Amino acid sequence: MKIGAKTFKTPFWIASSDLIRTKSQAEEVLKYGQNMIGSIVWKTTTLEPREGYKEPIVCDFYDGFLVASGMKNLGIHKTIHEIKEFKEDFPEQSIILSIASVNFDNPVKEFSDMAKLIRDIPIDGVELNLSCPHQVSGEKYKTELLAQNPEMVEKITKVVKDTLYGTDKILIAKLTGWNTDIVRVCKVAENNGADAITVSNIFPGMGYYTGLTEKKNGYSYKVGEPLLGNFKGGYTGVAMLPATLLIVNNVANSVNIPVIATGGCMSSNDAMIQAFLAGASAIASATFYYDSNCRTCRDFSNDLRERKEILEKFVKEKIVNI
Ligand SMILES: Cc1cc2nc3c(=O)[nH]c(=O)nc-3n(C[C@H](O)[C@H](O)[C@H](O)COP(=O)(O)O)c2cc1C
Repeated sequence: MKIGAKTFKTPFWIASSDLIRTKSQAEEVLKYGQNMIGSIVWKTTTLEPREGYKEPIVCDFYDGFLVASGMKNLGIHKTIHEIKEFKEDFPEQSIILSIASVNFDNPVKEFSDMAKLIRDIPIDGVELNLSCPHQVSGEKYKTELLAQNPEMVEKITKVVKDTLYGTDKILIAKLTGWNTDIVRVCKVAENNGADAITVSNIFPGMGYYTGLTEKKNGYSYKVGEPLLGNFKGGYTGVAMLPATLLIVNNVANSVNIPVIATGGCMSSNDAMIQAFLAGASAIASATFYYDSNCRTCRDFSNDLRERKEILEKFVKEKIVNI
């Protein structure tokens, strides 16, 4: 699978999440998936470390998760350190680093400052996280995501692309199909230098404890309390799949760069194959890999073996773009 001049050994990627933000976490996941993971999109980092919102920041919700971490991350300097250490032991494993801004007055500057710091580190590319549902563009917009603002998408994509100029790093824009003219925004990213588009991020969401189910994740809730510490956040999981397929299809039919599908792509119901059929060139999953001991990774390898024949047929007949 190719994006720009980069070739990835498989189109199955791990999406940016709290699953991998340190070297040891990445090692743990790779124990099971080393030959399978086309790229790891490292946990989104901001310029400075962030504590994030109060717990719970992740909560089981039917077949997925409610999430509102408040961009909890190690900050760019520590993240760079972790990635460099990891790459010393796993030089062949592709890494994409996800970056975001919480400088609501001037996000373009924060993206630009981070791009300068990661220009020369051993990663294959940078993903612009412009679509986290609890990351807003600032006072002026209040609830608008950067990805819903074409002017912001233009400026940020351009400044990071210019900073990466002269390196072989690819640039990916992670956008949202939530309440926005997604095709227009994707074209803005493409026209300003994005080498690929990831759609979508988690969808905005929230939930309550009703007392009718077991206590969630060991937290003690009172009946009627919100499940997330921040009350509002986003939803991930298989229920996102139909929307993901629709968005991927609309975008893939409109841009000339690869589209990476994220949202509800688990193997259990052949969702990944459906995402390829919709036009995705790669799949980035988070929830799917999120169980203890990465059991899913092992199941997935077996699943994939069974589905290899179908996929190979689709590739041969040029029904899919991988
Ligand atoms: C706990 C958790 C943390 C996440 N953190 C990030 C993040 O830091 N940056 C980002 O771009 N997406 C983040 N995501 C979104 C995932 O990358 C992915 O796009 C989303 O979960 C949809 O895919 P899925 O249904 O396979 O989980 C996070 C998801 C989860 C579950």
